[in-house]
Order: sequence, then structure tokens, then C-alpha cells
Amino acid sequence: MKASEIRQSFISFFEEKNHQLVRSSSVVPVDDPTLLFTNAGMNQFKPILLGEKEANPSRAVNSQKCIRVSGKHNDLEEVGIDGFHHTFFEMLGNWSFGDYYKKDAIRWAWEYFTEVLKLDKNRLFVSVYIDDDEALDLWVNLTDIDPNRVLKFGKKDNFWEMGETGPCGPCSEIHYYMGEDISNIDPAGVNTTDEYWELWNLVFIQYNRQTDGSLEDLPAKHVDTGAGLERIVSVMQGKSSNYDTDLFTPIIQSIESMTGKSSEGDSVPFQVIADHIRMLSFTIADGALPSNDGRGYVLRRILRRAARFGRILDQHDPFLFQLVEPVVNIMGDIYPELKEKQAHIEKIIQSEEMSFNKTLDRGIQHFEKYIGKIEGDIIPGAEAFKLYDTYGFPLDLTELMARENNLSVDNDGFDQEMKKQKARAKAAGKFKTNTELEWNIVSDGFDSMFVGYRLLEGNFSIRRWASSGDLTIIVLDSTPFYAESGGQVGDIGLISGDGFSVRVKDVKKDGDTFFHYCDGFIPESALDEQVYCKVDDEIRQAIRLNHSATHLMHAALKDILGEHIQQAGSLVCSDYLRFDVTHFEKITTDELLKIEQYVNDKIRNNSNVDTEVKGYDEAKDSGATALFGEKYGDEVRVVQMGNYSHELCGGTHVNRTGDIGLFKIIEESSLASGVRRLMALTGISAFEFMQNQNSKLNEIQLHLKCAQNEIVSRIDKLIEEKKYLEKKLKKHSESNENGMNTLLESMTEVKDYNLLVTLTEAESMDEAKLYGDALSGKIKSGIAVLFFKGEKKPGAVVVVSSDLNKKSLKAGDLAKTIGGFMGGGGGGKPSLATAGGRDKNLVKGAMSQTEALLKKLLEETN
Ligand code: ALA
Repeated sequence: MKASEIRQSFISFFEEKNHQLVRSSSVVPVDDPTLLFTNAGMNQFKPILLGEKEANPSRAVNSQKCIRVSGKHNDLEEVGIDGFHHTFFEMLGNWSFGDYYKKDAIRWAWEYFTEVLKLDKNRLFVSVYIDDDEALDLWVNLTDIDPNRVLKFGKKDNFWEMGETGPCGPCSEIHYYMGEDISNIDPAGVNTTDEYWELWNLVFIQYNRQTDGSLEDLPAKHVDTGAGLERIVSVMQGKSSNYDTDLFTPIIQSIESMTGKSSEGDSVPFQVIADHIRMLSFTIADGALPSNDGRGYVLRRILRRAARFGRILDQHDPFLFQLVEPVVNIMGDIYPELKEKQAHIEKIIQSEEMSFNKTLDRGIQHFEKYIGKIEGDIIPGAEAFKLYDTYGFPLDLTELMARENNLSVDNDGFDQEMKKQKARAKAAGKFKTNTELEWNIVSDGFDSMFVGYRLLEGNFSIRRWASSGDLTIIVLDSTPFYAESGGQVGDIGLISGDGFSVRVKDVKKDGDTFFHYCDGFIPESALDEQVYCKVDDEIRQAIRLNHSATHLMHAALKDILGEHIQQAGSLVCSDYLRFDVTHFEKITTDELLKIEQYVNDKIRNNSNVDTEVKGYDEAKDSGATALFGEKYGDEVRVVQMGNYSHELCGGTHVNRTGDIGLFKIIEESSLASGVRRLMALTGISAFEFMQNQNSKLNEIQLHLKCAQNEIVSRIDKLIEEKKYLEKKLKKHSESNENGMNTLLESMTEVKDYNLLVTLTEAESMDEAKLYGDALSGKIKSGIAVLFFKGEKKPGAVVVVSSDLNKKSLKAGDLAKTIGGFMGGGGGGKPSLATAGGRDKNLVKGAMSQTEALLKKLLEETN
């Protein structure tokens, strides 16, 4: 039987027993802050199991995508080494929510295994919880299992818990002997050796584990089962490793043909890579992205492990991304999100591989060099930290490489180094709940029904409230306040009662409960059951515009940039909208213009915005876009705008696209590799932004003194002129340099002194002074007088060397005399002075007089 047939036979078996097929939930849980990844089929039913939500239907069956790499259920060390632990696997499960219990769960499990799949009863064992005689009796009396094969185990093996807190209960497992020779079968091997595989776990959920560790009885008893599809497929296909089944062989074969190596020898690198590429494909398809903390860091760790195993197979260029295709081929039909996101998954993996490749080889070299000279068998924390910090090696990768060399890593030392850096501590902080608050119960019943699509104010009942410092947190029976979700921020507004009124500053959802965070402390006596709530409608209105425009922009991006565009995050608030999309290049100005045009066209179309609640599958079949990282129930709300946008969304929207008024993109930037961020405005904000831009234009126009339509040509002209002047200046200073050399060459000698009396091209005293300054360093011992005729009045600059100053020849005195030759006067410092004249016609004569005077003076100087 093929894996797909086995999956289907399980589902059909339970459908025949009145179970409703429920879609696999995303591997990225959205509403459960206690979980990084979906780790069991029951996760999505947690609120039902805890009695927080009504069960509908009361029997369910599904095949759930699960990840086990963190938290309570973590199989990472075994992955790839053995043939039956995975980071990603599919869990087949059937559920009873307060309906049937142990009897039917046991009887049907046995029937499915022995009559439908016809597993060999001689290889099957069953375990029950040590105190659970009821289950033991049912196995013995209801099925034809050999009573000697029903074994009792303690809490470690037969009491199942979802996590540190949450639903739990005793369980009963079915194990299968995988050994070749059945005569070696021995009950002592169950739960102790790898030859006995746990295939199916039937959990009888009856408790809720509290944060203090105590068990609380649940209002109803439930059945939660989980069977590992991969293992069942191995058994059914007569294989001893899951990697030899049709769920994996196409991936292994792709690795073989890509590397030209065979997995017959050391199969571990092939297995690790095949396992990890499935995990990466599914998590990225469900909206996770590799990053440096929290969930994203788990992806990064897994990808880096896979890349490093690629090195063992001599893969030095990115290669993992090419393995997405076989994964899609194997499972894209049953999990269509893989097909839809294939190009995106490949790009993300490829770019992450590229960035790790930069340090991976150097890190491996460093590691090998280090262990070549290591003393003892422990890699110190500081060294592991260096590999982490400098080469990007996650700790578990260093541990794995250490194990391969019979070494271990000083994890505590690593943690200390990490603490010093503090960086990662933040990630853990994100996953906090507010269960520590002390709640005051005011009234009973279901809570948090959202009525805010229609109502923005009204009287509602308080279910419970808690206070923390200056903050009061309120849960209502129904509420007009939208709670932050799908990128849209929570509403703000007022809640008032007898003698008090508090400002609602945020509303957040945890599971299905809406928590209204209010500013201010309310005296207990004032908090009546009935309160009046009022949403700030101006803010809500602005949010609606931005949210609807976000949908239109999403459609525009797909239309203009291509179908590879996926939403990678969004923020819709009253001031603006922000939208992150997967795209590998900068979005060009031209493309931005087209996007704006597209959205504004649709606004002017003024189409109806319709919302409708439908079944998820019906909505998907009709082409609605489901967003990354969103968790959708079986009933979804579809928001449709004209025939161009069709999205699953719980947000608040305008009635007609025309209500948006105007749409303007104000920023495009890079957020991360392969992710672009866009910011935009709508309505009055967009209008004000454009007005503001226009007044800036007016200001520019005023400065440039031209008409608005001439601004560009005016600026072009200014730029041209600037260029021309720069060129001219350059030429000028070159000719000055030449001029200076000519001046120096025309110097004469009187005794041992230099003498220069000349007419320059200078047009003003300032310019002549520049010449004088330049000359003063060059005349050495002597005097220079630089005459000019000037535009209006003539003049001269007199330069005297310092040795002559000491012999009483001062530029200031000389300038006075020389100025007199031109009908004017002069003065200045002993080294440099200026003389001004009245009449240009006197310059020539003044020059001869000056020359004669200076010759005489120099002759007389010793
Ligand atoms: N929730 C149970 C498990 O994960 C069935 O094993």
C-alpha cells in the first residue's frame, strides 16, 4: 500500500464511524503562546479539551503536520541516526470530545490495525498505564490480543502530556516488533529497545496540568489518539526504516543523483537532509522564516545542520533548495500549501544557504583545527560560543560534531557566554502568558463574542476583570472592540460604568478570549456587571480604510510583481499601513507607480466590499487567498472586493472601495533577505501627505523663481552651470599655477637679492593679494611688487622677505610710496602690504618709478 493510500484508509475508517475530517492545522500555532510548533494532532483542539470551547463535531479524524524539535517533545538527537524519529512527521488521529471513551477507542484501534491493515498480531504489544485496570480489562475482553501482550508501564511511558501545562491523561500504546526473526520476540524489549516501535498512542484525556504542577479534573473526558504515519507505512511496506518508504525514497534519490553518491554506505547524511528538508518546507509554507530568535531560530538551526551534512556529501554550493521539489511531489496533493508556496520556500532556503555558506567551511576548519589539539574530551563553552558567534554554528550542530568525534560540549559554559551577550534571552521572553493575574469573576457564561462589525457602542456584561498596577484588564460577554489580529491593531475607546470611565488603550486576544487593557485603576465596588462600551470611531474608521487598502495592495502586488508575492507580515493601524512581502529585488519606482495606480483605480471603481462566512474548503476552492501564519477555523470569513481581491480575513473593512478615498505609497525598503517592506497612507492622511509634498514644491518654486512646470529644467540648468563653473575654476587655478611660474622666471637679481616688479591680470586687490600670498613663500630673499589695473582702480601688492625686514625694508612703508606714484596711498605689514591708486594711466609710470626706487634701495642694502 502506498503512503497516500494508508493515510486515506485511516481517515475513511473513522469517517465511517461518524468522525468528521478536520484539516491539519498550521505547524505554526498562532493562538497558543505555550507552543513554538504544533507537536500533536490535539493541539488545535486544546480549547475544546479544556472545556473553553464547545465541541462541534464531537468526533474528529485528521492527519496532522507535526514538528518535534523543541520543548517537551524533542527528537532531534535521534533524527537521521535511526530510521524512525523525525523533526517533521504526520500524525494520524481520531478524537472524541466528551463522546465515546476508552472502550471504542481501544476496540477501533485494534480493528483498524488487525482487520483493515492486517498487521501481524504476533508482532503487536499493547501497553497501559500502571493504574489503568479499566483499559487493561478492555484490551483483554474486547479484543483478541494475547493477554500476555498487554503490559503495564508507569508515568514516564504511559501518561501523556502536551507540554508543561495543558490537557493530559493516562494512555495506552500499541507497539510493533520490527525484528527479522520473530522467535526473538520478548516483551521486555517494549519501551526499552529500538526493535519495538510505538505505532499508535491512545490518550484518555481527563486532566489539565496547572502551572504549579497539580492536576485539575476536566469537565468532560476525551479521547485523543496519535499514530505515526511514517512508521505505519514502514511496517506496511515491509521496510525497517522510514527512509526506505515512498514518503522518503524520492528525496533520497534526488540527493543521490545530485551528489553522485550512494546512500548504501553511510546513510546518515542522506537521512538527516531528507528529514530536515521536509521540516523546512512545511514550516516555511506555513509562514515561518529563518531568523535569529524564537521559532525562526529553530528553522535556522535545522537548515544549518542540513547544510553541514551536505558538506559530508561534498556539497559546497546551495543545494537544499532543490530538494523542495521532491517534497512537493510527494505531499503537495494532500497539503496544497506546499505547491502554492514552492517558489517562495525554495528562495528562502537558497538565500539562507548562501548566507551560511560564507562561514560554514571556515567554521569546520576552525573546529577541526581545534579538536586536533584539544586536551581532554570536553569542548569548552567559550569555544562552542565562538563557533556560534563567529561562524554561525548553532550549539546543537557543535554538539553533533563533537559527538561524531567522541567529545562533548560544556553546555553550561556556553550558556554563560550566551548570558553575557544576552541577545537570545529576549526570544524566551516573548512567549509569556498573563495567567499569573488574579481574576475576579463577575458573571458566568461564554465570553468575548465579537459584535464590532456592526456595533461600535452599547451596554455589555463584564465576565471577569483583573488589575495590575495602573492597568485594569476586562473580559466582556460580547464586545464591539476589535482585538489585535491579522495585522490589524486592537481598537481603542472607553468603558464606563457607575461613576467611572476608563480608556481602553489596547485589546488583545489569547485563544478566543478578548482582553481589554484599560488605563487606570477602578475601585472594586465600582465595577458592576453592566458597562457601557464605546469604540473610538474616528480611529476605527481610519483603520478600516487602511485594512481594505492593504487587501487591494496585496492584489496589486501579485498582479504587477507576480504570483510569487506572499504576505510576510502586516500592520494595519489608524495612521498608516505596513505590508511586508516576499520579493527578492528592490521594487522599482516604476513598479511602485503602477501599484499606486492599480489601487487607486479600484478605489475609483467604488466596488462593494462583501464579507461572507463560509466553510474553509469552499472558500479556498473559490480562490480566496489565505495568509501566512494565520490560523483558520473550519468557518472562515471571506472579504471580497470587486473581482480583484478575495481574502480570508477577520478584520474590519470599508463598505465600498471608494470609501478609501486615496492611496499613496510613502516608503519601500528592505526588511530582510528576500523580504521588502512597503508603507502607505489612505484617505485624509494620504491627502495631507500629498498636500504637504505640494507645499514643499511651492517653496522650491519660490527659491528657484520659476513656474512649477519649470522646476526640473531649472534644476537641470543649475546643475549644468555648477559643472561648468567647477570646470572653469579648475582651469583657472591651473593657469594661476602656470602664471606664478612665469612670474618667478621674470625675477631679476640686484646684488644677491631677487627683484620682481610686474603687471598682473588680477582684477581686484583681493585677487592680487592671493598672488602676493603665493609669492611670499617663493621669493626667498628679495622684494616683489605686483601691479594691477583693476576694473575700477589700480593698485599693487608689495611683498618683502623677512631678511630684508630686518634690514629696515618694510612692505608697509614701500606700499605707501608706491601708492603715491599712482596718486593714492598704501600700508600694511612689513612682509605684505597693499598700495591703492586713483588713475590707471599712472600705472606704467609708477612701475618704472618703483623699479628704479627698489634697485637703488637694494644696491644700498648690505
Ligand atoms: N497526543 C498524543 C500524542 O501525541 C496522541 O502522542
